[in-house]
Amino acid sequence: GKIIFNGDLKSRSEVKVDIEDRGYQFGDGVYEVIRVYNGELFTEDMHLNRLIDSAKLIQMKVPFTIAEIKNRMKELIAENQLKDGIVYMQLTRGVSARTHSFPTAEVEPAFVAYTKEMPYTGKMKPGVNAFTTDDIRWLRCNIKSLNLLGNIMAKQQAVEAGCDEAIQHRDGTVTEGSSSNVSIVVDGQLKTHPATNLILNGITRQVMLKLCADHGIPYVEEAFTVEDMMAADEVLYTSTSVEVTPIINIDGQSIAAGEPGPITQRLQKLFSEEIE
Ligand code: PDD
Repeated sequence: GKIIFNGDLKSRSEVKVDIEDRGYQFGDGVYEVIRVYNGELFTEDMHLNRLIDSAKLIQMKVPFTIAEIKNRMKELIAENQLKDGIVYMQLTRGVSARTHSFPTAEVEPAFVAYTKEMPYTGKMKPGVNAFTTDDIRWLRCNIKSLNLLGNIMAKQQAVEAGCDEAIQHRDGTVTEGSSSNVSIVVDGQLKTHPATNLILNGITRQVMLKLCADHGIPYVEEAFTVEDMMAADEVLYTSTSVEVTPIINIDGQSIAAGEPGPITQRLQKLFSEEIE
């Protein structure tokens, strides 16, 4: 398949990353993952706006407009004949002799994008197991930064415990998953962490909240504790890759009856209707 490297469509084998790319040396950059369903980008404007916001928050210029990036993505999808999958894109502060402070203004950010197949079955995802762990990350989790050490350390712990996702908490207050947002349902009301600096404001999370608003499902953006979560009627997590997925077991303990709950299933169905 082809990839996009700065402005150009290229073969992957033609492209080399410089050892002094700041993304490679410092994790100095931002990224996005956008889903493609049936050859079409899903909620791409929300993702691309978030990319621009993330870049702004680290004082990095974006050398393209949203419309330009979108056109490039469409070319890439067509070239690779991608039906169902994702586009991964990242923007780093560019190539410059290693020094912590920003390079001079003429150094251009480096942009890379590629596609990956990911089948879409249209079937509701069954419940998964999760694992709770300390949120050891920095305090700008609202930025979709390439620095993912805290996230990957958490996810690895979950995998080693035989679980699908890590649920991070700060002193007992649940923030989010390692690469997802977490919500609970208590007495028919959905609760999810507010979009503060402690979480990434997931696009899937935002779509889910809009579905709640449009379909009369009560919700509140309010933090909850690990204890609240363990006692909840339902727990679910959302992201570009997992869409809306029930969590039925946490740290080896069943959530309620240990089966996907009615509100989660309703949201799964409503979400799949957004895609079709
Ligand atoms: N991760 N929180 C974190 C820390 C994430 O990395 C992600 C997404 C989300 C959910 O965001 P969205 O609904 O916009 O995908 C929440 C992507 C998919 C990834 O890193 O692969």
